[in-house]
Amino acid sequence: MAILNWVPALNIGIEEIDRQHRRIADYINRLYALRETPDRKLLGVVIAETVDYTLSHFAFEEAMIEEAGYMFSGPHKRVHELFIRRVTEIQQRFEAGEDVANELHGMLSRWLFNHIRNEDRGYVDTVKAYQRMRNKNTKTTEQKMKEEIVKELEEKHKRKGFFARLFS
Ligand SMILES: [Fe+2]
Ligand SMILES: [Fe+2]
Repeated sequence: MAILNWVPALNIGIEEIDRQHRRIADYINRLYALRETPDRKLLGVVIAETVDYTLSHFAFEEAMIEEAGYMFSGPHKRVHELFIRRVTEIQQRFEAGEDVANELHGMLSRWLFNHIRNEDRGYVDTVKAYQRMRNKNTKTTEQKMKEEIVKELEEKHKRKGFFARLFS
């Protein structure tokens, strides 16, 4: 798989989540562009940024579906965890000197598209119903949820600013 082209069919209809998914796709494309660079230091930074952003997206998504009372929050979280383990393992091999950029890029791009299509789509109705229940104005609700979730995550993980990257 080469450059990821974002197509409207990949949007799940929750504005904030779609924005974060597009951003992950941008990171993956940056990794693709640099996959053959001889500059391992730069590559290491790009890999770390891609992984970090994806992890903060997962934390945000998990907190959101849990708050909305999604029935499969637990299994969804476990799918994320499995993916994190695989990515961390590849990242460790990179640090040990292996050439992993192509493998990591392939894995990330396949995984992202499949996960959005198959698993993320599953929570949309529950989250939207929850947002409607909280407020008739969906935009305002989304904004409020966003702020509350980030505050909660920062307190839980004691990582000030780490989650702010989701919105920068
Ligand atoms: Fe997910
Ligand atoms: Fe997601």
